[in-house]
Amino acid sequence: MEKIIVSGGNILKGEIDISGMKNSAVGVLFSTILVEGKCVIENLPPINDVFTSVKILEAMGAVVSWLSKSCIEIDTTNIIPCSSPDDYAAKMRASYYVLGAELGRFGRSYSARPGGCDIGVRLIDRHIKGFEALGAVVNEEAASIKVVAPVGLSGTHIYMDDISVGATINIMLAAVKAKGNTSIDNAAREPHVVDVANFLNACGAEISGAGTDIIRIKGVEKLTGVTYAIVPDMIEAGTYMIAGALNVGNKIKVTNVIPKHLESISAKLIEMGVNVEEGDDYVTVSRIGPLKPTQVKTLPYPSFPTDMNAQICILLSLAEGTSRIVEGVWDGRFKYTEELIRMGADIKVNGRTAVINGVPKLSGSRIRACDLRAGAALVLAALAADGISEIDEIYHIKRGYDRMDEKLCAVGADVKVVDMPDIYDLHNLSDSDNFCGRQFTN
Ligand code: EPU
Repeated sequence: MEKIIVSGGNILKGEIDISGMKNSAVGVLFSTILVEGKCVIENLPPINDVFTSVKILEAMGAVVSWLSKSCIEIDTTNIIPCSSPDDYAAKMRASYYVLGAELGRFGRSYSARPGGCDIGVRLIDRHIKGFEALGAVVNEEAASIKVVAPVGLSGTHIYMDDISVGATINIMLAAVKAKGNTSIDNAAREPHVVDVANFLNACGAEISGAGTDIIRIKGVEKLTGVTYAIVPDMIEAGTYMIAGALNVGNKIKVTNVIPKHLESISAKLIEMGVNVEEGDDYVTVSRIGPLKPTQVKTLPYPSFPTDMNAQICILLSLAEGTSRIVEGVWDGRFKYTEELIRMGADIKVNGRTAVINGVPKLSGSRIRACDLRAGAALVLAALAADGISEIDEIYHIKRGYDRMDEKLCAVGADVKVVDMPDIYDLHNLSDSDNFCGRQFTN
């Protein structure tokens, strides 16, 4: 199985170029179902969630050519409705966008229940309520969902009880070609909601207000193909900003970003005593003094992102004093703290709150990437730690980070992806050692 081996403690200096945003790329790719024609999508991150999305679309009848490693041409003219393959759909979360996009184009849709990271209960009731409000009938089965609009979709006013990124985008996809006007009140404002809306508008949709909490959609007859570039990934950028703050002496310039998207992260780093300088399309992060403790609450955009919970926790673990993270979006986002404690961190979790007492150093250890963002955060922890760390289950990281090992090595880190047997003697584990809930036996 592939693992990442990190030898910690190196001073990191240099530039890291940010790839296209995962959560926008998957939204735009599935939005192409609504287009009868060819699109060229640029700045796609070459990551496994993008490859899985493309495989789903190909299995449904889309004709795809890779023009470079980050650019595809996709012709969705001959998509066959309700043909999304169960095995791939169940591998990722964003496959739920097939439901909204197919419903918008064909008046019916089908998908296996989506997969994704184990970070808490991941319902899709708000997506379903939105489809029903537009006139669809939803049939939920244990492993799949079927949606049909017997007399077509009609625009309506939809108020979302709570903010959901996925439901906002899915309702937008279904409503783009509905009869009349739709409004989504209490909509998510994340940059990827805006990016998907911008893509659809470039294809001929009439969506206004994306990025605010009321999105208005005037139904149109037809969407046509365009060339479109995905925005930079704010979470990948935030992850490498944390890398710049790990050790005194580090200085990382994170390039190809939209600094506005990073404001909540920059503000927290500055509060912790980190230097953050913003340019037009870059931020530079460095540290000369100790890290100060602080309070973080994760909430929907523009607040501090839940997808940065684990990464900021690495810094808070090394701060001088007691910090707190309150997770405001997911109910199971702190699983990674068990791994961090294994590295010497002092963290107590109670429900959605983690209290972190800073320690002077972390120690290299054998740890598990419990989910995508936790995996990336544990790589950061390993970079700051003394000694060697071995990170297992890195397929999570590969779902969402483009060449994390190469990007970090280019700024001076010692990070290697290796293919090793599961039973490996790096830290002289004995036969009875229990690691991450697994018993190691020969
Ligand atoms: N929720 C419901 N019902 C729904 C939808 C959501 O109760 O119908 C709840 C969820 O259980 C959660 C909260 O609402 O507690 C927010 O969920 P949301 O729908 O906003 O999340 P999502 O669309 O499933 C996207 C990202 C996640 C990111 C969240 C929040 C994609 C593919 N995923 O998920 O990204 O954490 O928004 O910003 O866009 C990641 O990239 O690592 C990741 C997990």
